Order: sequence, then structure tokens, then C-alpha cells
Amino acid sequence: MLRFVTAGESHGQALVAWISGLPAGLPVDLGFIGHDLHRRQLGHGRGGRQRIEKDQADILAGVRHGQTIGAPIALRIENRDWKNWEQALPVALAEGAEDAQRHLTAPRPGHADLPGAQKFNFHDARYILERASARETAARVAAGAFAKLLLAQFGVSVLSHTIAVGHVRLEREAAWDEIVAICANLESPLRCVDSATEARMIAEVDHVLRAGDSVGGVFEVVARGLPPGLGSHAQWDEKLDAQLARAVMSVQAVKAVELGAGVAGAASYGSEVQDEIRYDPARHRFDRSSNRAGGLEGGITNGQDIVVRGYLKPISTLRRALLTADLNTKEAVKAAYERSDVCVVPAGGVVGEAMVALTLAGAFLEKFGGDSLEETRRNFDGYQRQLDKF
Ligand SMILES: Cc1cc2nc3c(=O)[nH]c(=O)nc-3n(C[C@H](O)[C@H](O)[C@H](O)COP(=O)(O)O)c2cc1C
Repeated sequence: MLRFVTAGESHGQALVAWISGLPAGLPVDLGFIGHDLHRRQLGHGRGGRQRIEKDQADILAGVRHGQTIGAPIALRIENRDWKNWEQALPVALAEGAEDAQRHLTAPRPGHADLPGAQKFNFHDARYILERASARETAARVAAGAFAKLLLAQFGVSVLSHTIAVGHVRLEREAAWDEIVAICANLESPLRCVDSATEARMIAEVDHVLRAGDSVGGVFEVVARGLPPGLGSHAQWDEKLDAQLARAVMSVQAVKAVELGAGVAGAASYGSEVQDEIRYDPARHRFDRSSNRAGGLEGGITNGQDIVVRGYLKPISTLRRALLTADLNTKEAVKAAYERSDVCVVPAGGVVGEAMVALTLAGAFLEKFGGDSLEETRRNFDGYQRQLDKF
């Protein structure tokens, strides 16, 4: 079973991730992991933190001589900002440290600040926001890069692009080649495949920057190359559509998840929504004339692209702060402001890729198993032969 967890606070020494269940013998391209970490830091509308951090994953365990060894993988991403927070968040109980602590008693609406403080019984939201912060997504992206490396061995790519920023929306479908190009283009401010739409998205971000406000938006993750048959209709928790929805919903600020044309489908007729089935004799495969289902039927992959959209709410920390109630005095005050992004849709897409890749890699290994990559490949090839004869 592929599993991963992360630890680390936003302004602590480091983030860490632990991944287990990958087969031995998977080549690990360290440059690829670094590249994805860099992609997560980009985008118009990011805050000052991205200028401080230059994320890099140090692999501590589970990889030797450039490949996985079947042991749990542990990795660490240093927080360069730690040097500015060492006094505020020391690990040991330090004498006189109270003065250096950066208490946060004006909980920010839309953050874990208030419910987290109540839950853990702190009259200071500092510890809560340190862990709830989306800085944690750097560890997810590093873990997701391992999942992508596994999937790539079997011809599967997981990419993303921006569909909407605030009120501005891409009104056409993006072609696969366009998504490939936008993922390779590190200069693209918002990772939208249409330059005219992207220019309007940039203006939307500039508007909220000036106004002390923030925007959300929509990213789309597309995975190409999966065979039919991953996931299962047989039990509710085996349904891959449900697993993907959970994984993407777990990304900070994602408030809705859509598979294929799920939202539009609810207001359409059945004849307009289902994807007609045909057979391609050249490839010995069934396929479809459209992909409104987003590659999943009955919780099982159908061989079409997996298409998952994450809907991000606008960033909660506002320069023009909203009203809140102080945790101690209970008086009405302005919510705390800490250096913040105003738009994270392109970065959200990179995190979405990681969560989709981890979920798909998990389903892939559930179907094909294998303690070594060679064994996984043997099982995969056997299944391909089964499909050829089907
Ligand atoms: C890549 C990324 C970066 C984010 N950066 C910020 C930020 O700078 N400021 C902020 O208030 N929220 C930011 N968020 C969103 C918050 O982390 C999130 O809204 C908050 O933790 C509450 O969780 P929830 O929105 O999932 O309920 C970011 C989210 C993502 C995906």
C-alpha cells in the first residue's frame, strides 16, 4: 500500500515527508523533484515568502545509488525563514522566550486559527497556523514527485493548468500539447494556456493586490496514459473518483472538486453527458468520442484522460483585514495580517498534480503490486496482454 505523511511547521526548521510502499528499483531523478518544488513556488500573486525560500528536498532514507530500495523514503525540505523565527518558535522551553514569541490572538476568518485554538486549547493561534499553513504543500509536492516518477515508468503523465482566476475563466478546452507546454514554461505568470485570457487573469490579480483583497480560482489536473481498470465499483472506499476527490479536497483552500464535466453535467440531459463507446481495431482498445466523464466510470478508470478540477476559495489573509474577536479580550478587532499570497491558483495546480499522482500511483500499485519495479512491470505487461485479447 502506498502511504505518505508530512510533518513540519511553516516557520519551523524544516518540512519532512515519509513515503512507503514504492517498489524497489525505481530510478529517482533528484532534478525532477527539485523542478516540481520550484514550480510550486511560482505564479503571479505570491507573497514575499517565495523570495526567501528556494525549496530543495534532501533525501534522508530509502534511496541509494539513484534508486528506491523498497525501504520507507524520508525527505527533508529546509525552511530558510527559520533563521528569522528561531527565537519565536524554539523547540526547548527557553528562559525569557516569552518576549520573542509572536502570539496571534486575532484569529483570521477562513483559517484554522479559531477552531484549531479551541480544539487544542491554546489562547494563541500561532501553533495552529504554523501547521495549517500551505507551506506544508512543499512536502506533498516532493512526495508527489516520487509518485509521478513511478507512473512515468508506465507512460503516465500528470499535468495541470489554470482554468479560472477570480472572475476570469478560460472559455475553451485546452489541448494536451498546450497543457504540456504551459507546464514546461516556467515564465508563465498564471499557467493559463490562452495568452489573452491570461492577460485578463493578471489584471484580476493586480486589481486585488491594489485593493488589499485576494482571489481564488480553478485549476485542472489531467493524467494521461492510465489503462482501464484502476479503482473499483465494488466498495465505496475503493472508488477511485471518491479517492481523488478526497485527495484534491485536502489541499488548503480547495472547497470543491469536479471530475470531468461534473458540474455542467448536472444541468444537462443524459444524451448530452455520457461518452459514446467505440472500438479502435488498430490499438485493440475500446475508446470514446468524448471524455465528459473525466476518465472514470463507476469509480474505475476507463482508459481516457483523468480530468480533476480543484476550486480554490480566495486567500483568507487580507491586507484590508476583516473583523474578528480577540481570543483573550473577546473584543472586536481587525484580524491579524501576516505576509501572504493573494492568488495561488498556479501553485494549487502543482499541489493538485502531486495529490492526483499519489492517489493514482496508489491505485496502480494496488492493481499491479510488485516489491520490485521489474515485478510491477511484469504484472502490468500481463494485464496489457489481457486487454489486447479482450
Ligand atoms: C499553494 C497555497 C498557498 C497558500 N498560501 C496562502 C497564504 O499565503 N495566505 C493565506 O491566507 N492562505 C494561503 N493558502 C490557503 C490556506 O492555507 C487555507 O485557506 C487555510 O489553511 C484554511 O484551510 P481551508 O481553506 O482548506 O479551510 C494557500 C493555499 C495553497 C494551496
